[in-house]
Amino acid sequence: MSTLSSLEEAKKSAAYRAVDEHFPKNSKVVGIGSGSTVIYAVERIGQRDDVKDVIFVPTGFQSKQLIIENGLRLGCIEEYGVGDLDITFDGADEVDPSLNCIKGGGGCLFQEKLVASCAKKFVLVADYTKQSTALGFKWIQGIPIEVSPLAAKKVESDLFRLGAKSVTWRSGGKSKAGPAVTDNGNFILDTYFGPVEAKDVDALDKAIKLLVGVIETGLFNIADIAYFGGSDGSVTVW
Ligand code: 5RP
Repeated sequence: MSTLSSLEEAKKSAAYRAVDEHFPKNSKVVGIGSGSTVIYAVERIGQRDDVKDVIFVPTGFQSKQLIIENGLRLGCIEEYGVGDLDITFDGADEVDPSLNCIKGGGGCLFQEKLVASCAKKFVLVADYTKQSTALGFKWIQGIPIEVSPLAAKKVESDLFRLGAKSVTWRSGGKSKAGPAVTDNGNFILDTYFGPVEAKDVDALDKAIKLLVGVIETGLFNIADIAYFGGSDGSVTVW
């Protein structure tokens, strides 16, 4: 009998199905995202008998540990350019029907976007709570924006000028005091703009990226397919 909660079952069924349907035969390099759902994707990959020679590229510290713990070969993104990864599997915080998504709830957005951008295919795995009609409709914590610590105050004021309704400096780093520090030594500003229509996602992403001091935004519009696990074990594919 399964001991997983229905939410964990949902994550597992989405991740297992995505790996079974998309893990490329004869793949050489595969990107691995971050978060709790990707744990099941890596678990499933680790059960395959054709991954001994495949290199897995992580998107942060958690992801690196996951690759090592599952006995897979670890690579690093510094060695790869656009199109060099066969596929990347990653989680998401909110996904709209056009496959735009918000990522970075775990603070790994920069490396996640970097690794996804180098992959020929980007596959999202998530539970049913992440399906949304528009970004910012369900995920009201705000779009995570990674910024240089030197520029955090300046970017905060820029974001309000761009129309942000709230900007929260993410806290709870290792010391639990002061701003959280990413794997890249930066801060995160969780920025709520209200719901963002699918047609406006790209423009908002570009406007934020242009601000001096912004490293990356948690707005992604590069996914090819998304798998959502349901509480009853079913899987919906967008
Ligand atoms: C981390 C991320 C994660 O992929 C996202 O937060 C989803 O995590 P989970 O699968 O635990 O819901 O973007 O930066």
